[in-house]
Amino acid sequence: MKVLIVGGGGREHAIALAVQQSPQVDKIYCAPGNAGIAQLAECVPIGVMEFDRLADFSVEKGIDLAIVGPDDPLVGGIVDVFKKRGIRTFGPDKKAAILEGSKAFSKDLMKKYGIPTAAYERFDDPDKALAYLETAKMPIVLKADGLALGKGVLICNDLDEAKEGIKTIMLDKKFGDSGNTVVIEEFMTGREVSVLSFVDGKTVKTMSSAQDHKRARDNDEGPNTGGMGNFSPSPFYTEEIDRFCQEKIFAPTVAAMASEGRPFCGVIFFGLMLTSDGPKVLEYNARFGDPEAQVVLPRMKNDIIDVMNACIDGKLDTIDLEFSDKAAVCVVLASDGYPGSYEKGKKITGFEAFDGLDDRFCFHAGTKFDGGDIVTNGGRVLGITALGDSIADARKKAYEATGWIDFSNKYMRSDIANSVLSASDIK
Ligand code: AMP
Ligand code: GLY
Repeated sequence: MKVLIVGGGGREHAIALAVQQSPQVDKIYCAPGNAGIAQLAECVPIGVMEFDRLADFSVEKGIDLAIVGPDDPLVGGIVDVFKKRGIRTFGPDKKAAILEGSKAFSKDLMKKYGIPTAAYERFDDPDKALAYLETAKMPIVLKADGLALGKGVLICNDLDEAKEGIKTIMLDKKFGDSGNTVVIEEFMTGREVSVLSFVDGKTVKTMSSAQDHKRARDNDEGPNTGGMGNFSPSPFYTEEIDRFCQEKIFAPTVAAMASEGRPFCGVIFFGLMLTSDGPKVLEYNARFGDPEAQVVLPRMKNDIIDVMNACIDGKLDTIDLEFSDKAAVCVVLASDGYPGSYEKGKKITGFEAFDGLDDRFCFHAGTKFDGGDIVTNGGRVLGITALGDSIADARKKAYEATGWIDFSNKYMRSDIANSVLSASDIK
């Protein structure tokens, strides 16, 4: 069969690797792809928001399955356009992708269906938001309603910061129309965990847990990024916590979406915080996480095509997801300066060290060809993932492999997965 993957980051590289491992697949296309994905797929220069061109391409090539990676096209309704053209597609349609596309929608859904999350209020009027802040408890969290490249969340320590935040989101419109509505949310503390799941509209099957490191610098300092590295599984996500989440969060979310007439087919990413009051939802994403996909998919034993087909056909109850006992750690190599300004076009060397290895992967996030060279083309450049017998072992192997790659403004965090090594509450 022929598969089209829409996207061009580390997540799509990890998806492409999983798709390539399926014996059912003869040919993979990726739009737009990147220099790493080009080893596995034919990359086509069509942007992820060019729905009609992507649909024309799919029809012309006879694509049997399209897989959409990023949030923007999903929230924008790519799946509706593809389905109308008769293209079999894995991913939520527009009315389901709102689960990620509108934080106000997702908070209201959780409130209506009793799904544990931080207490909140939503405002369309900046004056009312400012008045509410006067009596609110600090710190407090402000969230622009819509997509904002993962940057629309502001954690404010005091009233002045919070008022400034409302100005930034609702008046200065730093995140554009995403800031027409704001969610003001109780600040929670605890360990964060990401649980990705396959969903077919009614059944949800969770993948192994992961933990991201969102801040740019060591010790969780510096600005928020898309993710600087992560590990899977999270030893903090115990069986007891899993039982609670399956019963109180995962199944109720899927049932709630169906009841609202928005059945969700695709991947729901549950961003959770393990608070002293029990697990609570921080956010939903309507897709694989990036870099979460880079640690979770290499551990998945199932044929990803079977799982995706089961989701589309509403037969996920027939699938048992299986994950390897190996742990995975991913360290992101970024361009120094990210998530602020940084230079691109730096030549990258050292890829050949990964050739033929099945326990270390070099996922490309922001790379492209420049003549015969591969050069940097983004803030997050590569995700170096290693599998090991434990998180400690995988961490050691991942950091070792980061040394195999060189480019002039290479930057990484040095403490990915350290929390696991230093934790006293787990073995
Ligand atoms: P989000 O884009 O919703 O994942 O938010 C980005 C990050 O902000 C999360 O990974 C958390 O670290 C933090 N965050 C979001 N909501 C809250 C909250 N209610 N309390 C504490 N931290 C939060
Ligand atoms: N790594 C977080 C995300 O994909 O949203």
